[in-house]
Amino acid sequence: MTDIKYALVTGGSRGIGRAISLKLAAMNYHVLINYRSNKPEAENTLKLIEAEGGKGELICFNVADPKEIGQVLGKWIDESQHTIEVLVNNAGINKDNLLLWMKAEEWSTIIDTNLNSFFYVTRLILKDMLANKYGRIINIVSLSGLKGMPGQVNYSAAKAGVIGATKALAQEVGKRKVTVNAVAPGFIKTDMTKDLPEKELKKLIPLNRFGEAEEVAEVVGFLASKASSYITGETISVNGGLYS
Ligand code: NAI
Repeated sequence: MTDIKYALVTGGSRGIGRAISLKLAAMNYHVLINYRSNKPEAENTLKLIEAEGGKGELICFNVADPKEIGQVLGKWIDESQHTIEVLVNNAGINKDNLLLWMKAEEWSTIIDTNLNSFFYVTRLILKDMLANKYGRIINIVSLSGLKGMPGQVNYSAAKAGVIGATKALAQEVGKRKVTVNAVAPGFIKTDMTKDLPEKELKKLIPLNRFGEAEEVAEVVGFLASKASSYITGETISVNGGLYS
């Protein structure tokens, strides 16, 4: 066993997950950068980390596939004997449609990727955190999960589900000094929002702009740090004042 500290960021190949990976690496974490299929972009995240003098490695699994999570992440945990101290459940997708037209597949894929992934990944990591009497679990949710967004009934339900799970798990594990919090971004400039009419939407935002992935990563960095030791079960919005 070494005293290297490990963090896992799901969906670390781009966007908010990449910014979080860089932030945690700057905080001296060896970052496990999870990706599903975009290996070149995951490698770019690792290169950016290494360029700043940080450390990390890639770990490929689909967060919506419990079998693959067990085979890849479970194996990493068993074989490395390392404890993951910080888990950021960041991977997520949206498939927007009005409920009236929504296909069962659009519902289930979103629930699998955004909500069920929380259960399967967190369950694997939690055991060691509890044994270690320390851990930080940070779930990237959304304004949609707080407010509800038309056209996103599936995504809003999944993110609201993670917010509920965050509050419940925080109460289960607090005695072991494991904290569980959520970060709820509003409109952040990533691939997920690149087709939205930014000019129109920014008029609704008090800070009059979309946010940057790094602005979300800063809050995640705080929640991952010892400085946040008395905060648990909380959801922090990073939305430029759009909704509170
Ligand atoms: P993005 O589309 O740029 O990145 C999503 C990441 O998740 C990618 O790295 C992708 O490969 C990964 N991913 C998706 N499905 C996966 C799977 N099945 N297994 C493993 N990895 C998978 O989007 P962005 O904006 O960086 O999103 C990150 C998180 O922030 C998501 O949970 C999203 O719901 C949330 N969010 C984003 C907002 C925004 O305005 N961009 C607003 C509110 C929440």
